Amino acid sequence: MTPRTIVLKTQGAECPITVGLSLESEVLAAIKSAAPETVVIIADSTTAQLWGDKVLSLIQKLGIPAEIFSFAEGEGNKHQETVTSLQHSLLEKRYGRNSLIIALGGGVVGDVAGYVAATYLRGVPYIQMPTTLLAMVDSSVGGKVGIDTPFGKNTVGAFYLPHAVISDLQFLSKLPREHVVNGLIEAIKEFLTSDAVGLEVVKKINLDDPLSTKEALMNVVCRSIEIKVGVAMRDEREQNERRILNFGHTIGHAIELLSGYTIRHGYAVAYGILVESKISELLGILSPEDKTFVAEYLSHFDITAEPIKKFQVSDIIAATKGDKKVRGGLVQYVLLEKIGSVYQKDGQFAHPVEDTVVEKTLESLR
Ligand SMILES: NC(=O)c1ccc[n+]([C@@H]2O[C@H](COP(=O)([O-])OP(=O)(O)OC[C@H]3O[C@@H](n4cnc5c(N)ncnc54)[C@H](O)[C@@H]3O)[C@@H](O)[C@H]2O)c1
Repeated sequence: MTPRTIVLKTQGAECPITVGLSLESEVLAAIKSAAPETVVIIADSTTAQLWGDKVLSLIQKLGIPAEIFSFAEGEGNKHQETVTSLQHSLLEKRYGRNSLIIALGGGVVGDVAGYVAATYLRGVPYIQMPTTLLAMVDSSVGGKVGIDTPFGKNTVGAFYLPHAVISDLQFLSKLPREHVVNGLIEAIKEFLTSDAVGLEVVKKINLDDPLSTKEALMNVVCRSIEIKVGVAMRDEREQNERRILNFGHTIGHAIELLSGYTIRHGYAVAYGILVESKISELLGILSPEDKTFVAEYLSHFDITAEPIKKFQVSDIIAATKGDKKVRGGLVQYVLLEKIGSVYQKDGQFAHPVEDTVVEKTLESLR
């Protein structure tokens, strides 16, 4: 399979994102081009165990000293204590500004390691090596890094573009089905908002063994990255258009928070997509047929509105208020206009929605 590289260019920087199978030489080339004196691999407990040694011995071929630092896996560890502990470990070992950080893991590792890279000695370069499908299609792309706080998801962080992203599909060989679906939801979100054709390709992926359908997998990963790169290049700092990537996320983040992060990000976003398409329908923006299409499409991945019912409507609405998308007291939502495109009004991509509408929507799904 021939690797593909998609380049994200911003005003000050360029980030090549390479996708393919067994990308050893691409990893070595990316490290060499950063010319580091030392390499720090940040992983979580799972990715350190599954892939840490393989990546470490690959880097050692370059003769550059490298070391793995890991933290306990899970969204519950994407917080300040983990960042501080990593920063202190690096300071203790006197890693200097000529160090390169490699984020080896899913979205949690990418967000934490990227935030450490953004702040360590006022910033050192980092490479994202995403190991989950979610991280490949979404979180490793675009330079948003950060952590959760008791006030909400990703409420502290930075925009900090990696030196490179290497998405090696071989990492997905040990990814459980639940995480395959979890990642595909972010791709589905992008296709629902920007490219209806992609939705058909997603359905060709074998959820139990994605590498057995590697052409479809490659297509979905590359197309999702292209969509995200396009949006991020037009709106690097999320002033407007980039907000379309938040479709499903206003409710999704609220559900994630209320569940104490036991509901995975992708699944929470899927429930958010169900609610936010229903809001779009209630506001007369999305046709009932398209709303039904969304619900039926997600049911193919065993996703229904059932898990939302265990949360109080008032709690969900209260939890949306802590979201970064609140403006002038009203929570902002990305609304679907039809399959493959979002609603725009006065050039805006996110819109204030009254609590009463959200409440009515959530009640109707019970
Ligand atoms: N920065 C962004 O733009 C952005 C965008 C979307 C999501 N996110 C963030 O991404 C996070 C979710 O990412 P995620 O779903 O990858 O979660 P994750 O990083 O927690 O990974 C999920 C689980 O899979 C394990 N894992 C990782 N790679 C594996 C592999 N190759 N084989 C087997 N198991 C593996 C991990 O240890 C973990 O237990 C959330 O924190 C979310 O906020 C960030």
